[in-house]
Amino acid sequence: MKNFEFKNPTKILFGKGQIENIKNEIPNDAKVLMLYGGGSIKKNGIYEQVSTALSNHEVVEFGGIPANPEYSVLMEALKVIKEQKTTFMLAVGGGSVIDGTKFLSSAALYDGKEPWDILSKNIPTLKGMPFGTVLTLPATGSEMNSGAVITRADTKEKLAMGGAGLFPVFSVLDPEVIQSIPHRQLVNGITDAFTHVLEQYLTYPAGAKLQDRISESILQTLIEVAPKVLEDPTDYSAASNFMWSCTMALNGLIQKGVPTDWAVHAMGHELTALFGIDHARTLAVIAPSHYEYNFETKKEKLAQYAERVWNITEGSTESKAKAAIKRTEAFFNEMGIATKLSQYTNDYEGTAEEISKRFKARGWEGLGEHQNLKPEDAEQIVKMAY
Ligand code: NZQ
Ligand code: ZN
Repeated sequence: MKNFEFKNPTKILFGKGQIENIKNEIPNDAKVLMLYGGGSIKKNGIYEQVSTALSNHEVVEFGGIPANPEYSVLMEALKVIKEQKTTFMLAVGGGSVIDGTKFLSSAALYDGKEPWDILSKNIPTLKGMPFGTVLTLPATGSEMNSGAVITRADTKEKLAMGGAGLFPVFSVLDPEVIQSIPHRQLVNGITDAFTHVLEQYLTYPAGAKLQDRISESILQTLIEVAPKVLEDPTDYSAASNFMWSCTMALNGLIQKGVPTDWAVHAMGHELTALFGIDHARTLAVIAPSHYEYNFETKKEKLAQYAERVWNITEGSTESKAKAAIKRTEAFFNEMGIATKLSQYTNDYEGTAEEISKRFKARGWEGLGEHQNLKPEDAEQIVKMAY
């Protein structure tokens, strides 16, 4: 096991009815900026619950943060923060609203000229404006981590940012919120969380038995509850297990002491930036090709994953590892997720070259757990995913 440091300061309020308790987590004298997305919270009762909980606080609202939070919209919200002198933010939404809020947390205290530099120059945020979240869509884990991904439409970029100053102060995880989530977004959530675990687990054996077993448990739990959640989002037991699995998949715990990959996300983000494909679906497109392409370096963990998660126990390391890749792709397909780029766009020719060019321009010369995947390797992987 590798050396590590671990600190996760986010307080979790889990369960039915927890939204009303946010009033105890936000300082009484705070001027709160409440941020939300395209309006789903106004149809499903979450807006009313939050408003009631904050009835004794001074609140300013900013709605309209789109899926794949857009820089130009966030810059409008930044103006509101400065003009209204708000001191605390509350994100009410999925990964996009929470990530957008993280960007604002950083940008509000940033004294450089161009806040986009936080992303393009990879400036870590050590201190941000404090914020809490009410999670409405289990998927990204953003509610309990310190990372964010921001999109810029005019340049077709999607870049990540982060830093110890970007953990939410608190996050409310009420599994009842999933009742109103459209089927497509539920499937996305399962796929995203599943792939988060794979990125931190399908590398090479590092003797981290507990991290491996926690990862395998999250995968097994997602596989078990996925059909139940999709069939009946009012099934509270399935919803709670789904929600907590998504948070645990990316709150930092399972990546401690082990090598991590994240190349699937790096390539996937480009597909969203170029074609607007839902984040989770880009991962399902890239992952099978990525594991095929890096088969030799990943086969031990793939075989372990085959045995312990999919119960594929017969055959050689190679044959179990191959079967695991197939089973993973089938899992995505069974939920209705297409796993080839050509199923999303007819305009895919040249995509692999474009992604390779972008990685080269950013100096991304060593992706993956061995930091040896070159832009040319990414090009091959994306081509295999056509
Ligand atoms: O905008 P509204 O009207 O709220 O509708 C949203 C949106 O259209 C809807 N929705 C959310 N909760 C709902 C609901 N509809 C009905 N009922 C509810 N309870 O769902 C749609 C998608 O929402 P979004 O927030 O975009 O989805 P998700 O949570 O999957 O977030 C995706 C974003 O997170 C980034 C992705 O790149 C993408 O930009 N990620 C963030 C990560 C992180 N911070 O750690 C890691 C991930 O790997 C990922 O990259
Ligand atoms: Zn993801």
